[in-house]
Amino acid sequence: MTPKHPSESLTILTDLVLPSETNPLNNLFGGELLARMDRAASISARRHSRRIVVTASVNHVAFNRAIPLGSVVTVEAKVSRAFKSSMEIFIDIWVEDRESGNKTKANEAIYTFVAVDDTGRPVEVPQLIPETELEKQRYEAALRRKQLSLVIAGKMNPHDATELKALFI
Ligand SMILES: CC(C)(COP(=O)(O)OP(=O)(O)OC[C@H]1O[C@@H](n2cnc3c(N)ncnc32)[C@H](O)[C@@H]1OP(=O)(O)O)[C@@H](O)C(=O)NCCC(=O)NCCS
Repeated sequence: MTPKHPSESLTILTDLVLPSETNPLNNLFGGELLARMDRAASISARRHSRRIVVTASVNHVAFNRAIPLGSVVTVEAKVSRAFKSSMEIFIDIWVEDRESGNKTKANEAIYTFVAVDDTGRPVEVPQLIPETELEKQRYEAALRRKQLSLVIAGKMNPHDATELKALFI
């Protein structure tokens, strides 16, 4: 399988925050943002693998900044590392200033998707070759995050999480 670059899975979704999508403080409801991120990440994983993909886990979400009603929100998703059948997707959330048009980062998240066949069984995906400095950093750290996610899910014995343990030694 020919390896791919992160830019080939880049997915950008831009949309407004409407009144039905806000909480009582008139900021974007967290669940709505999670859904937008899941959608963008799913397209990204599909672009990388060209297979059916399913969300295996939400590894990390940071709601650092509230996003007010009427904001223009951009969800930017890219595969940050591919393993055998799973792909880590890194998502950056940007909010656009109405007057200047400048975008500031509001949140970020990391999802894991798995490529599956028609019966839902995991299938292999192309490997990823990071290019930019940021892509390389995210690629390097992805194995630790995968091990952490598997340990938390009870799918990996902590003793086998070598990359993760190396952080603390
Ligand atoms: C995700 C799913 C396909 C994994 O199937 P499985 O039988 O556990 O298969 P495996 O154990 O072989 O795992 C497949 C891959 O997923 C990875 N994976 C599974 N659970 C994971 C988790 N919690 N975190 C990170 N990676 C995980 C495995 O490490 C493996 O990766 P690799 O092949 O790249 O090494 C299966 O659990 C599933 O279909 N879940 C439901 C998905 C869904 O419906 N999502 C929508 C949510 S509503």
